[in-house]
Amino acid sequence: MKRRRRANLGAWLLALAATLAHGALHAEYGDVVINKRSDREGVRPVIFPHWFHRIRFQCKVCHFELGFKMRAGANDVLMNDIVDGRFCGMCHNGQLAWGPERCDLCHSGLKGLPSGIVGGAQTSGPGRW
Ligand code: HEC
Ligand code: HEC
Ligand code: HEC
Repeated sequence: MKRRRRANLGAWLLALAATLAHGALHAEYGDVVINKRSDREGVRPVIFPHWFHRIRFQCKVCHFELGFKMRAGANDVLMNDIVDGRFCGMCHNGQLAWGPERCDLCHSGLKGLPSGIVGGAQTSGPGRW
């Protein structure tokens, strides 16, 4: 009797874990449109392929060490910061990844797209928006 109950608990925990993992996918996948300043400053909105980065780096690299808040549109990112090696610029420095002079690879969104998370499990990639 006791053993049986434990087995049931195990199955229940597995089901719970599966549900949680599934829920988390919605946040991890998709592209993030960052358009807090872009439109206003006359450049196309930024499309950040979250999924592409997420499979290469741990969450904490960006959401702890780099200080990106986990909410689309919540961060104040200036180009000067990027050029100085902060935010995207920690990696997009021409060494770890291509550098900040390649404007169009990041500023690839259509004018007027609001900040937020978009799409499913695939990045649309630069220029395909
Ligand atoms: C590695 C990605 C990346 C590259 C490359 C990049 N940017 Fe940005 N840029 C961003 C992000 C992220 C923001 C914040 C967007 C927002 O809040 O709307 C931003 C914001 C801006 C802004 C508005 C804020 C400010 O500082 O005035 C301008 C203007 C801008 N970028 C111009 C450029 C130009 C010009 C280039 C090429 C010389 C460039 N960017 C290259 C990611 C990039
Ligand atoms: C390469 C950097 C990077 C990595 C790695 C990364 N993120 Fe993000 N994440 C971002 C950026 C940038 C944003 C958008 C912030 C903004 O719009 O101002 C974001 C946004 C989010 C959001 C908000 C989505 C929404 O709907 O508002 C969540 C949740 C999130 N990340 C969770 C995670 C988790 C969980 C992981 C690891 C599995 C992870 N991130 C890995 C950079 C990263
Ligand atoms: C922790 C390191 C890291 C951070 C932070 C980071 N990137 Fe990247 N990013 C990379 C690497 C590595 C690549 C792959 C470069 C290559 O293929 O040469 C990449 C590729 C990309 C691509 C091309 C994706 C594709 O489908 O080919 C875009 C667009 C991009 N990053 C935008 C951004 C923006 C915008 C930010 C900031 C919001 C950012 N990245 C922050 C490491 C990073």
